[in-house]
Amino acid sequence: MRTPRPILAAWGTVLVAVGLALWSSATTAQTLPADAQPTAIVPPALFASWFEKGQPGLNGAVKPADSLSFSNDPNLKNVDFYRWAAQMFLWVTSPAQNGQGKLVLHSPSFFLVSRPDDQGQRTLMPNADDKSPELLLRVAKTGSHGLPVIVGKDGNLLEVVPAKLASDKKPLVLNGAGHEEAIDKIRLKKGAKVPFEFLNSQNSVIADPKPIIPDNLRTSPIVQRITVDDVSVFLSPSGDDGDLGTGQGTTDGVLMAQGGSLVYYMISVNDVYAYFMTGTKGGGITPQPTQFPTTQTELDQITQFANAKGKTLLHPLALCVEVKTSWVEADGLPDSYIKMTASIPTYNKIDAGHWKPAGHKSAKLALVGMHIAGSVKGHPEMIWATFEHFCNSPNASYKYNALDGSTKTVAQSTAGNWLFCQGGATDDFNTLHQAVEGDLIRARVVGGISPSNTIRFKPFGASSDKGPNKQVSDSAESNTQIISMNNSVCGQLDTADIRKNYFMVGATWTDGSAPGKSFPLGNVAGASQLANSTMETFTQRRSEFGSRDSCFGCHTSNAAEGTKATTGVSRIFCSLKALP
Ligand code: HEC
Repeated sequence: MRTPRPILAAWGTVLVAVGLALWSSATTAQTLPADAQPTAIVPPALFASWFEKGQPGLNGAVKPADSLSFSNDPNLKNVDFYRWAAQMFLWVTSPAQNGQGKLVLHSPSFFLVSRPDDQGQRTLMPNADDKSPELLLRVAKTGSHGLPVIVGKDGNLLEVVPAKLASDKKPLVLNGAGHEEAIDKIRLKKGAKVPFEFLNSQNSVIADPKPIIPDNLRTSPIVQRITVDDVSVFLSPSGDDGDLGTGQGTTDGVLMAQGGSLVYYMISVNDVYAYFMTGTKGGGITPQPTQFPTTQTELDQITQFANAKGKTLLHPLALCVEVKTSWVEADGLPDSYIKMTASIPTYNKIDAGHWKPAGHKSAKLALVGMHIAGSVKGHPEMIWATFEHFCNSPNASYKYNALDGSTKTVAQSTAGNWLFCQGGATDDFNTLHQAVEGDLIRARVVGGISPSNTIRFKPFGASSDKGPNKQVSDSAESNTQIISMNNSVCGQLDTADIRKNYFMVGATWTDGSAPGKSFPLGNVAGASQLANSTMETFTQRRSEFGSRDSCFGCHTSNAAEGTKATTGVSRIFCSLKALP
């Protein structure tokens, strides 16, 4: 078994000397193999050119990637995509100019996306110096049709379709004769092949029940949730329980760190995105765009539209960028985290299994995860990248190619002290312990509201059994690229740079068209089995390949694979209100 090393051992011991030793004994960190083949690097001159000052400096300001002249060269074997992702992360986490310690993410380059209002609409709020952002608890994760999702027996995501209701609110199903019939009662039948049956108002069993599925969902993987009184069951299109059992929750799960902090989320978009969206919705950009900008002509339209509104875009070449971040309360955490002050919801404990909202408080928060997506030349579907703090979660076993030419296996080890996993945990990974129900946080496990054990089943966005893209021969080669990119970037940052404590889990994209299934079944490329342990926690279920186990499993754009990728890849685009 591998012994956990202090986090930055791979890049030298200097950091340990300046203080990391203090906490590295208390907090375990995922280490990256230092002997991975350097197959995806950032050459020093290129790395230096990313910095405003032309050379890396302690927490130095980085420029955004030039997405407009993205090389888009398949011969670079994914490397330009991973470089784009690494540079964008360093940009967003750079100190803002005149930002009084704030990051670019909190600067006027970005807008904060509000929670949905009663009509489901979201508002863009310009970042202001005197205001701290308001964060949400983990929000309901929805599938490609905006419905909650659940993980099916085979590990694939199913969307949970609500039942059609009769006028008296009783759920309806199709009976054996194909007619709609109301369910009066659900009778549970423990141990039976289908562990429930439905009774009608005459108290007779409804034979051969099937869910009533709206036309637009006929061909999608779904299951229907049927609730009568306190009993809730899942009915699959074939009329059984889809092997889902009864008590399982959908992914409105709430994640709690081992220290007891809940996890909070924030979504931000850059100024190009904000004005593109506004011009698209308000008719200011014609003809009305249907996909994110990738060309000079499209960018010119956005720039002109913004100018007409009195706005100068700060970083036009970044094209459209959207960022989703996850945070925990910083109390008791070491200095290795990027921090901010924000407003978070508070709760009163009614009992071990129920917490009730009690208002808001201002708190110091620590960044644990970041998703960054952005459009680049040739890729209106966007590049989707994700980053985590090294101390979040352990990795399941994975392979990589070492300098000596051998393929090495890193065994799964949960030993140590993780933020999202109990040291030594062996089982029950990524199990939902509580979920939002109405207003309440409600326990879904016997132990009450509690931290759970999180693991990255596909450590660098590749499955254990299928290579994730056509540029590499197997998962080991793909993992090696991503490890190598991290080693290269972290190795060139100043030894005390705060951003060294985060790593890229991977990045994914398509051939430019609307995303479908993951390689080799479809066009989703790069680290095509990607997830973040703080954001896609409960939908990470296996190390093996799943055709939709990627960001694009939900960010689908609802267009058929191979057709044009629309703005639907962004889950918030549709619900955003144009800027005034
Ligand atoms: C289970 C479904 C699901 C998966 C898988 C998923 N997302 Fe999302 N994502 C959502 C939903 C729904 C939203 C809308 C806002 C919210 O609820 O957070 C969202 C929002 C976002 C946003 C903010 C802007 C937007 O597009 O709405 C980013 C950026 C993002 N996700 C990146 C990623 C990345 C990167 C991955 C893969 C590592 C990923 N997502 C995987 C469902 C998902």
